[in-house]
Amino acid sequence: MMRLLVTGGAGFIGSNFVRHVLAHTEASVTVLDALTYAGNRDSLAGLPSDRLQFVRGDITDAALVGQLVPAADVVVHFAAESHNDNSLHDPRPFLTTNIVGTYTLLEAVRAHDVRFHHVSTDEVYGDLALDSPDRFTEDTPYHPSSPYSATKAGSDLLVRAWMRSFGLRATISNCSNNYGPYQHVEKFIPRQITNVLAGIRPKLYGAGANVRDWIHTEDHSSAVLTILERGRIGETYLIGADGERSNRDVVELILALMGQSPDAYDRVTDRPGHDLRYAIDATKLRTELGWRPRFAGFADGLEATIAWYQAHEGWWRPAKEATESFYATKGQ
Ligand code: NAD
Ligand code: DAU
Repeated sequence: MMRLLVTGGAGFIGSNFVRHVLAHTEASVTVLDALTYAGNRDSLAGLPSDRLQFVRGDITDAALVGQLVPAADVVVHFAAESHNDNSLHDPRPFLTTNIVGTYTLLEAVRAHDVRFHHVSTDEVYGDLALDSPDRFTEDTPYHPSSPYSATKAGSDLLVRAWMRSFGLRATISNCSNNYGPYQHVEKFIPRQITNVLAGIRPKLYGAGANVRDWIHTEDHSSAVLTILERGRIGETYLIGADGERSNRDVVELILALMGQSPDAYDRVTDRPGHDLRYAIDATKLRTELGWRPRFAGFADGLEATIAWYQAHEGWWRPAKEATESFYATKGQ
């Protein structure tokens, strides 16, 4: 039976991945998570305690990491500071967690010869022109824009260096924008859904022409599991589900699905250095590993996500006020 150590397993994508693994495999899971503002123990509620162990701790804590890693067959590394807007306000935790934290894990898996999977982002490639047909591939040069994406790019390069210099058994995946249940209300889609639920108008940065390539987090989970099961050691795989939409289209769709007028939103201060467009070409993952997304219809996935936030106010409400107060200080 496979034993997974999942860092950041109390966050959005990590907790969905843990649910996915427990539902679709026989594996046992240990979650290592510092429970920062973005982590939530309740995101793992109801999961079988005989197959899931939770350890509250920091990935920069070499002694703790050194205890947990030898008991695992694979480390799946989700833990990160993940929000671009926060990285523009205070980059330091991004350097500590995303760079030093990843380094700490790499040294432990190297010492104990444990397989490592590094979860990364398409933002390491920078952005694409709005009117171009181009998409990111595994060969696109790195060109990160924000402190967040620069630290993720740095962590990817550390993994690559540990593979080449020390023969580390690792894989990397770079995924596009995720949506789904358990996503923090600071992020675009849950922010707008919970705004409508709280009687606040949705907030669109600038003109809303920026494009993101949306994938349901369940499809991200199945892709990572596929890479763990069939991925070639040393390889990078891009994960995406052909879900390009402008931010304005997404806000209007949320409003329509929630029975509101499609123009009932505010345009607010744009994000400095705002990346224009992300788009993933996932041909390698599809052809080499045979992976397919299940949530092809964005509107259906969005409707299910709206229903989840409607039914789980107790999960998101505690973070809402502080999040909106922070945005308000920046005119957003
Ligand atoms: P998140 O912010 O929701 O969760 C991050 C988790 O990591 C939280 O539970 C937090 O408590 C934990 N954490 C933070 N610092 C830690 C530390 N020093 N030690 C231990 N735990 C720590 O993030 P997310 O959106 O779930 O993203 C997860 C991963 O996926 C990140 O690596 C991110 O770069 C990557 N990713 C995210 C997206 C997306 O759309 N959200 C897309 C592609 C890749
Ligand atoms: O592409 C993958 C990345 O996607 C991940 O690496 C990041 O961890 C994740 O946060 C996400 O980054 P983005 O910056 O694209 O996501 P965010 O949800 O912050 O914003 C999505 C888009 O919506 C972006 O163009 C900014 C815009 N936006 C965001 C907020 C919070 C708004 O227009 N209004 C908002 O209120």
